[in-house]
Amino acid sequence: MEKLWIRREAEEDISSIHRLVARSYETARHSAHNAPQIVEGLRDADVLSLSLVAIQGFDVVGYIAASPVLISDGTGGWYGLGPVAVDPERQNAGIGGSLMGQALQELREGGAGGVVSLGDPDFYRRFGFEVIEGLAYRAAPAGELLAMNLCDSSVPQGSVSYHQAFGSPYQD
Ligand SMILES: CC(C)(COP(=O)(O)OP(=O)(O)OC[C@H]1O[C@@H](n2cnc3c(N)ncnc32)[C@H](O)[C@@H]1OP(=O)(O)O)[C@@H](O)C(=O)NCCC(=O)NCCS
Repeated sequence: MEKLWIRREAEEDISSIHRLVARSYETARHSAHNAPQIVEGLRDADVLSLSLVAIQGFDVVGYIAASPVLISDGTGGWYGLGPVAVDPERQNAGIGGSLMGQALQELREGGAGGVVSLGDPDFYRRFGFEVIEGLAYRAAPAGELLAMNLCDSSVPQGSVSYHQAFGSPYQD
């Protein structure tokens, strides 16, 4: 297998990221067909706290984003992880796991308090995400919002708000 590189996104990656995210979310179990628009909305609003690409050869084969979330109890420094996407032809080869590992390490090193995820709970649980009693996202079904504390402070309690680029995937 060709060597995998993970690095920050560059200007010239933007169209490849769009195509990759669109293609991989098309058939996702926890589909967010607007995932490419979410990434663009976050970039346009300058709130992509983290935007990493996985490169093999000359191809963008994976992508992960993080953006700040607000928590109603006033806790700061928490981030929403995702979208995360891997080229359908290169899935199950460790790329998604490498992107998750790198993103979590960078967020931790940057002083993040914690991270939340919406989407495929089976995937995020593998990396230490879990349901946190008292932390919720609108009307998301129980078990859809997962979280992971990255610091020594106590876990926040309240309602989580993602950036408006995520739209409203659940009805209130
Ligand atoms: C989810 C996704 C990013 C995983 O990428 P990947 O490169 O195939 O993942 P990896 O090969 O690194 O797998 C990492 C681990 O997660 C597991 N895994 C992969 N996809 C999974 C899924 N959908 N559900 C549960 N576990 C999953 C793998 O078995 C592996 O476990 P292991 O470490 O015990 O072997 C990729 O399948 C994808 O782009 N899916 C479409 C978009 C999507 O669903 N995004 C995330 C959820 S919203």
